[in-house]
Amino acid sequence: SVQATCFAGAGVEDRRALGRFIDCLLTDAGATDSSISILREIRRRQSLLNQAELAHLAEFGVNLGDKLQADQLETRTVAVTYEHYSLSAVLDRLLPPNTQLSSFSVVGHIAHFNLKEEVLPYGQLIGQVVISKLPNIRTVVNKRSQINNEYRNFELELLAGEPNYVTLHKEYGLEFELDFSKVYWNSRLSTEHHRVVEKLRPGDLVFDLCAGVGPFAVPALKLGATVFANDLNPTAHSYLEANLRRNLRKSQLISQPELVKAFNMDAREFVAGVLAPRYAEAVASGFEQQVVAIANLPGMAVDLLDCFVGCVKE
Ligand SMILES: C[S@@+](CC[C@H](N)C(=O)[O-])C[C@H]1O[C@@H](n2cnc3c(N)ncnc32)[C@H](O)[C@@H]1O
Repeated sequence: SVQATCFAGAGVEDRRALGRFIDCLLTDAGATDSSISILREIRRRQSLLNQAELAHLAEFGVNLGDKLQADQLETRTVAVTYEHYSLSAVLDRLLPPNTQLSSFSVVGHIAHFNLKEEVLPYGQLIGQVVISKLPNIRTVVNKRSQINNEYRNFELELLAGEPNYVTLHKEYGLEFELDFSKVYWNSRLSTEHHRVVEKLRPGDLVFDLCAGVGPFAVPALKLGATVFANDLNPTAHSYLEANLRRNLRKSQLISQPELVKAFNMDAREFVAGVLAPRYAEAVASGFEQQVVAIANLPGMAVDLLDCFVGCVKE
């Protein structure tokens, strides 16, 4: 256990600072950098520690000097239990020394690892620790195969929790429902989705050739662009349609039902059958806003360029 002391007359903030300090001691008793900065904060707030506490802190390599004195002190004893340790502190203790654990990404209630070969034997243990430490995570998976299939999803191995891969993920305030075992989703692309959508303006005409469950199409529609979105994967297409609807206000859907246009075809057919005629129409009517085609199909999108030949003039 660790004994911590705080000036009894200290305000709520002082107590919070002390609480954070205790957390530091508990989770990382050896390293004192962050402890020191929190102690400085306590000192700045005129909290007082007696000689015994100073000596106690000195054990952690922290020297506050002689200025602080005991006065109206309150002492608490905290039992160090599993709850006090952070996720990384627990994993550090449980995994063999020098284990390189890759970071994980979160999709709704799912934590998704890409474990290296040598860490695989500890997969279930890691999964259980993650579930016990992160209240919003109910399922932990490991990516088993490389993304190499047409629909860009990958085989998953359940490490811990519910075998439930249908989830609701939030990105920049928008909601995306998806089945992580059947469609492509990468939470790390959120900044890229946002960067692209920021270039759009209300009224633009947007064609998303490989839209997945809609991370470009939905925010584009939301900002007032006219969006035609497509994906070859029938499951992605269903979620795309649902996500376009779920993020529009009801009033918008009733007044402009034609706003939601999701297609389930090959990107080439989409360009020829959906993009080309609408582009021609826009040009003929003197449309002055941007016409944008998005093709997020890494490594292969460039092969789609020739299908624009003859469809668009510029
Ligand atoms: C890398 S994912 C990108 C999805 C989405 N834009 C995103 O950022 O999450 C590529 C998507 O292209 C779809 N796809 C693959 N081949 C396609 C094709 N020939 N035509 C249309 N969509 C295709 C896949 O099903 C997948 O959803």
